[in-house]
Amino acid sequence: MVVGELTQEVDLLVIGGGPGGYVAAIAAADAGIQTAVVEEAKVPGGVCLREGCIPSKALLHVAKIIEDADHAKNFGITFSPPQTDIDKLRNWKNGIIRKLSGGVKTLLAGRKVDYIKGRAEFESSRIVRIEGDEPTRIKFRHCIIATGSQAKNLPESILPRELCWDAADALEIEEVPKRLLVIGGGYIGLEIGQVYATLGSEVTVVEALEGILNGLDPDLAKPLVAKLRKQMKAIHTSATFKGAKKKGAAIEATFAVKGKDMTETFDRILVSVGRRPNTNGLGLENTKVSVDDLGFIRVDDQRRTTEKRIFAIGDVAGNPMLAHKAMREGKVVADVIAGKPAEFDPACIPAVVYTDPEVAWCGLTESEAKAQGLDFHVTKFPWVASGKAVSMSRTDGLTKMIFDRKTQRLIGLGIVGVHAGDLIAEGVLAMEMAAVAEDLSSSIHPHPATSETIAEAAEAMFGKAIHGAH
Ligand code: NAI
Repeated sequence: MVVGELTQEVDLLVIGGGPGGYVAAIAAADAGIQTAVVEEAKVPGGVCLREGCIPSKALLHVAKIIEDADHAKNFGITFSPPQTDIDKLRNWKNGIIRKLSGGVKTLLAGRKVDYIKGRAEFESSRIVRIEGDEPTRIKFRHCIIATGSQAKNLPESILPRELCWDAADALEIEEVPKRLLVIGGGYIGLEIGQVYATLGSEVTVVEALEGILNGLDPDLAKPLVAKLRKQMKAIHTSATFKGAKKKGAAIEATFAVKGKDMTETFDRILVSVGRRPNTNGLGLENTKVSVDDLGFIRVDDQRRTTEKRIFAIGDVAGNPMLAHKAMREGKVVADVIAGKPAEFDPACIPAVVYTDPEVAWCGLTESEAKAQGLDFHVTKFPWVASGKAVSMSRTDGLTKMIFDRKTQRLIGLGIVGVHAGDLIAEGVLAMEMAAVAEDLSSSIHPHPATSETIAEAAEAMFGKAIHGAH
């Protein structure tokens, strides 16, 4: 393909090189479809790789090492207090991003996917104009919009932008503020809040809802909240952020907690109040693509928009805004364009909060099963009864399962504990395979491993787990 102002043609144009876009492009190229990706950033990987999932996991790994080293004093191993070389930490984190984004670039190049740096805007339902180093127009047979989402801000009148960080700013890790206010106790607020608390910031979380993580199952929330309360200065729920203003070098912030106003001083404010889809400035008005009231692009089960040549995947195509959901959608759309019968119809989409302890769930929660009026049975296996958890001195965990009472099929799994995010995949597979309680309880799980808690919780469906309390 020759780049220039002339109109060129591609079979598939993918707009956005994040986890949805680059996976779709690779899968399409593997299916023999001539594919190009247009991306504003120099490197592919999207927010997830550059300023989201990957850097936050790197920093959470550091936080866990600090915590584990401190915890070791309980069994007779004492380390000196950690010293943080913030520049070295940032360089290490940036090196991870470079390595992974370079890897994605190599994967794309290996499939002969064109990587075009620039900003795409639809001129029509067949043509995209790209503003970049060399402006160009591309005529496509099919197009996938995978433009992701951006952090929501609070109104400038309440919180001037220059006083606050969004997740990307916080993950730059330029400084460790002495006092950090986190607005929003969701995924980002708690993950990044925990990183900074471990690095030495005094962290206060203000969350509008009654509980953290948007109504997370209280059984799963308990061990995490207990840990966060030890690490942070305060977690205020049912709290309304009212405003902040500069006061000397610091920031004075006011929030109401259960109706009572509190004014406190901070050095930095992290705003993590959700994200919104990136549809502005895409020229969608020049196509038949339609957008819902929340700004998400309307798609069908094949992720086709209301314009038949154009598909949308990932954050821009609706909740949950999770990289692994976008990746699966990307593969589905590549199959659809390749002419295969494919739909996005997962049995469940796992969610993981990578705090320590991690929280992960898939399928229905207990309250969702109740709200749907289902006849279900809940089993729980606390990690105090897990040999592996006791050996690691990490019994702050719980495995909770929801079974359909009649069919005994697994309909929900929630886990809180170390590496819960790795364990949850068993529940996802079980639900995809329509596994029943006995499939899980009689499959031999390695001993000792925290995955045994899944088999034990399944066993509890029939009365008692072998290692369960009487
Ligand atoms: P979120 O939706 O998880 O949490 C936002 C929280 O802010 C909610 O609990 C909400 O009640 C609260 N809130 C909203 N306005 C408020 C206000 N004015 N005052 C106080 N609280 C307020 O959104 P978050 O944490 O910004 O993350 C955005 C998205 O990014 C997530 O929904 C998730 O899809 C994705 N993400 C996923 C991660 C993972 O998979 N581990 C990690 C980080 C982000």
